Amino acid sequence: MPSNKNSRPKIGLVGGGNIGGILAQLACEKNLGDVAVFDINAGTAQGKALDIASSAAVEGFHANLEGGDNPAILKDAQVVIVTAGLPRKPGMSRDDLVESNAKIVSSIARHIKEQAPDAFVVCITNPLDVMVGHLQREANMPHEKVVGMAGVLDSARFRHFLALLLGVSEQDISAFVLGGHGDSMVPLARYSSVAGIPLPEIVRMGWTTQEKIDAVIERTRKGGAEVVNLMGTSAYFAPAASAIAMAQAYLHDEKRIFPCAAYCKGVYGVDGLYVGVPALIGAGGIEKIVEIELGEQERTLFQQSIDAVAALNEVLGALQQQGKI
Ligand code: APR
Repeated sequence: MPSNKNSRPKIGLVGGGNIGGILAQLACEKNLGDVAVFDINAGTAQGKALDIASSAAVEGFHANLEGGDNPAILKDAQVVIVTAGLPRKPGMSRDDLVESNAKIVSSIARHIKEQAPDAFVVCITNPLDVMVGHLQREANMPHEKVVGMAGVLDSARFRHFLALLLGVSEQDISAFVLGGHGDSMVPLARYSSVAGIPLPEIVRMGWTTQEKIDAVIERTRKGGAEVVNLMGTSAYFAPAASAIAMAQAYLHDEKRIFPCAAYCKGVYGVDGLYVGVPALIGAGGIEKIVEIELGEQERTLFQQSIDAVAALNEVLGALQQQGKI
């Protein structure tokens, strides 16, 4: 078959660790395009690219894979997904990673700006809401082309735990979450539903109790830590699947509405901050932020989440002033 390297879109992965490896595999198996894995550890990137490429004959996908420590392999990628950074260890919060990961994000922002300035960039590196803002500022790319993956994962966890509680398929559950990643996530029960039936109605019908729904919400908020405690490092299968869904929505102009860490200015009363909101992803990147009317309690919880992101942003700003980043 003639080789025609440029006919497929290119997905650049910055970080070829646990999440990066699964991202590469999923991108190939979904035939999203060619994949370039950039990592400071060249062997990891090359090895994973070769290993996944070796599964093409069995899995039946068509993709060129390359890996290495030269950022030039990201050249002209249409999508870049960033996972470079340290993952959590047991006992650590995501916020504990701010200094180490901000340094890494600063360096990779330069690479993305130089190699793939038109890419749709999905950041996964934690602490997510702060890192995606830092990445956008350092790369100086349009806000609608730089987005953070958190809400898709949080809502997927919420849907899974609800599915376990109610004995129904995750597919028939729709979840609506706002706010920062994890602990400060704000699930909106009245906009979350099972086969179109809102959760408050599910409780009213006697299918389950409010206490059990509250326990599911709490488990969802701590879902990341539950995985860290079990396997000693951050989750990687569900985070990768979530980011690939966002990349696919962009590449295929799907107009999907996902909860994303998107830049908010003048929506939800937020004044220039990346925070988790429902956003429409299509060929233009973040094409629209969906703003709904919040009730008093929902607004209070969302404000707490915004305040937590803003406070961590200030920590980042102070570290930058001290020259530590
Ligand atoms: N440039 C490129 N790659 C880097 C850099 C850098 N400056 N610094 C670190 N890396 C690479 C590491 O070599 C490693 O292969 O990033 C990869 C990170 O992989 P893992 O340690 O396996 O971490 P992972 O589980 O993939 O999580 C990455 O995502 O969910 C978040 O909290 C998580 O911030 C963490 C990130």
